[in-house]
Amino acid sequence: MRREVYIVVLSVLAVVSANISQAQEKRKLTADIVLGPYVQAVTSDSFTVVWKTDMDAVAWVETAPDDGTHFFAQERPAYYQTVAGKRPVGRLHRVTVSGLEPGTVYRYRVMQQAVLTPPDEKRIVFGIASGNNPFRQQPYEVRTLDPDAETLDFAIINDIHGKDQVFRKLMTDIPSDSIDMVFFNGDMLSSMDSEKQLFDGYLKSAAELFAANIPFYNSRGNHEGRGMFSYRYLDYFPTSTGETYYMVRQGPAAILVLDCGEDKPDSDVSYFGLADYDSFREKEAEWLRNTVCSEEFRSAPVKIAVLHIPASTGGWHGNAEINRLFIPVLEEAGIDLMISGHIHRYSYSEPGERGCSFPVLINGADEKHYFHIAGDSIKAERIDQEGTVLNTFEINVGN
Ligand SMILES: [Fe+2]
Repeated sequence: MRREVYIVVLSVLAVVSANISQAQEKRKLTADIVLGPYVQAVTSDSFTVVWKTDMDAVAWVETAPDDGTHFFAQERPAYYQTVAGKRPVGRLHRVTVSGLEPGTVYRYRVMQQAVLTPPDEKRIVFGIASGNNPFRQQPYEVRTLDPDAETLDFAIINDIHGKDQVFRKLMTDIPSDSIDMVFFNGDMLSSMDSEKQLFDGYLKSAAELFAANIPFYNSRGNHEGRGMFSYRYLDYFPTSTGETYYMVRQGPAAILVLDCGEDKPDSDVSYFGLADYDSFREKEAEWLRNTVCSEEFRSAPVKIAVLHIPASTGGWHGNAEINRLFIPVLEEAGIDLMISGHIHRYSYSEPGERGCSFPVLINGADEKHYFHIAGDSIKAERIDQEGTVLNTFEINVGN
């Protein structure tokens, strides 16, 4: 009997040992990219690249000028993400490249080195470094903003509510050779419950279709404040201010990208006692008052506000707070046009019609607008999912 037990124990040990050595043989040493890269927070002297890997890794971005040399012609400068003096280990990577020249194209590639350290070990064990290989594929390219550029061209969409197929139809044919940037004007998801929902809802498609080379800027909608994953919003969409409101200054235009907050009072049961948008909008309004006094803003011939919830003569609590806090500042600052969404139907309101002294354009839920700004002229085309031009309009802000 004892001998039988001994044999069984030996057999079990042999199986366990074989499994361990197989697992070691199969141990993955390279972190692969599962989303991105996509470009965020482009300014006149910096840009941020975001991507995600399937394993913990440290990451960096290498850049090269757009001078015709091969990326491997020489060692290229490397930029690392650091948090309080340390390079973070993780799967979501956010690297800012700074100290750049305005209006200049930079080539870049993203790199990562897997970190294999088991949770109970203190030493760091690295895997193999990997990333975009400029030998096999063209490096990505991004152009820094330039306040002295003669024109600004952008596309704007909103209220996709996680319908990736609609997103792809609207974004597949954007003219990537002539467009400077894209704006997502809120409610791209109905709520932010998980990373998968964000990736599948539109972000994976955005990265695939254009966002590795052309930046998109988010104006957060009321729906993007909902769901437990909403706390991670700025991790995926970093901005130049570190807040969800900021200014984009390109060519003749200054674009104030604002955050509307939620539409109902903070105490509404649908926010589960977690909303504090009243004080958030107060702080945002203070930033807005300071920003519209800056030379950077005042020097722009064309002044635009991008805000998910439009100015309105009536409406819910969110509207009332926007009217009280933002609209008077925007009117005083000489805003030429507000571009909004939220209503899901296209409309264009002349000054005065929505209770403010500037016109308000609302882009529909399944449409896009292309904007072309030159000198003091704002031209726009309203386009449906099939690519048909439905409307055009032009404003001359000098008139
Ligand atoms: Fe909305």
